[in-house]
Amino acid sequence: MTYRIGYVIGSLSANSINRRLSKALIKLAPAELEFFEIGIGDLPLFNTDLESDLPKSVAAFKQAVESADGLLIVSPEYNRSMPGVLKNALDWGSRPYGHNSFARKPTALLGASPGGIGTAVMQSAMRTVLGFLDAPQMTSPEGYITFSAEVYGEDGTVHNDGTREFLSHYMAEYAAFVARVLAVAAPGHIG
Ligand SMILES: Cc1cc2nc3c(=O)[nH]c(=O)nc-3n(C[C@H](O)[C@H](O)[C@H](O)COP(=O)(O)O)c2cc1C
Repeated sequence: MTYRIGYVIGSLSANSINRRLSKALIKLAPAELEFFEIGIGDLPLFNTDLESDLPKSVAAFKQAVESADGLLIVSPEYNRSMPGVLKNALDWGSRPYGHNSFARKPTALLGASPGGIGTAVMQSAMRTVLGFLDAPQMTSPEGYITFSAEVYGEDGTVHNDGTREFLSHYMAEYAAFVARVLAVAAPGHIG
């Protein structure tokens, strides 16, 4: 069984350390996971006035989320919370009312920071939002990554045995989590 995982980077920076982390995660993931990026950089700022006729970029974003078997969110922490660009994307995905694209998407959330707590506070804030959006979240293992340029190569190669082992384990657990969540039919779909 192969699963298509949409990954979202919560940073628009060309030199994003979180993009670099995502490359490592993808490289170390089990073969049953295939990845495609869901971009958030061209979404307009959320405005309810636009909901009746969704901008093309928003419709494409929602379609991409809905087409994914699962989501991998790799994000920086900004001022102890999630970056505005990522919250903007989550808000668009949740709307219009009754058309929440994130419902029942098995989701893994982690992030990298140069600092010692490795986006822990951002993740805590994001978990509240993802919970409200009805996205089942992998809660263990957690991934609080203190970034080091010596460990995370630009091409996704991880130059540290312990880190490589941890990230491989994280992705193996995520693959199992996706399979578990998708094995359970939503009540409306039974029979
Ligand atoms: C507006 C802003 C707020 C930040 N706040 C935090 C923070 O709360 N915690 C933290 O660990 N790093 C913080 N940083 C530093 C980021 O972790 C660092 O810039 C990181 O490289 C951003 O990730 P990226 O390279 O993937 O864009 C902040 C950076 C910016 C630009």
